[in-house]
Amino acid sequence: LKNVPLFQDMTDYELDAIAPLFVERKFRKNTVLFFEGDLGEEFFIIETGLVKIYRIDHAKEIILSLFDRGDFFGEMSLIQKGLTRSATAETLEATTMYSLSRQAFYQFLERSPKLSLRLLEMTMDRLRKANEQIYDLTFLDVRTRTIKVLCRLAEEHGIAQSDSLLINMKLTHQQLANMAGTVRESVTKVLQELQEEQIIGIEKKLISIKNMDALKTKTAPE
Ligand code: CMP
Repeated sequence: LKNVPLFQDMTDYELDAIAPLFVERKFRKNTVLFFEGDLGEEFFIIETGLVKIYRIDHAKEIILSLFDRGDFFGEMSLIQKGLTRSATAETLEATTMYSLSRQAFYQFLERSPKLSLRLLEMTMDRLRKANEQIYDLTFLDVRTRTIKVLCRLAEEHGIAQSDSLLINMKLTHQQLANMAGTVRESVTKVLQELQEEQIIGIEKKLISIKNMDALKTKTAPE
């Protein structure tokens, strides 16, 4: 729990007090943890694995966020009494999580103003990102949106290699399209172009950014 960003301001003593309230839970790949509209009963922190937060309309899906090690989710419907899950959560890999019941989550926040403030701070971060997403979907073309998704993934989940930044997640073109608000074919085309320009590399389905500056330049207005 020490490495969880949500708990960064807490002392070892404070962490020791809350650790026993967490229950470890393991899920297989492609398990729906909850559906949009369900009652919220649990708060989750990811120990290892990958979770997709999305909304779906008929066959179309928009991915709101991807969460991995150390990230939390499921707080909204617990805090907003009477409201249900705002999106669906599904594992994209085998995932181990710490979960907290609604009651324990509340005890937690009531006992620790520091933790409540940190949760607020991180939620604001997500609001900022959501604002960015609204902007992108409203004003940017498909190609730029796709490139921005790659930048964001590299910044948030990238692992530094000797000469590149590896996005250490196996994502399909369809999933990238569902993040950028477009169709699979467009993503395939953009990835091909970026590969030809040596800006990205793709090996065993993993994307690495070879030239971050060049990639970023492509997201700037002309
Ligand atoms: P909850 O509404 O309980 O269940 C879905 C969860 O997804 C929600 O809590 C948040 O933790 C998370 N979530 C919903 N919308 C977003 C978003 N736009 N960005 C990041 N996380 C989100």
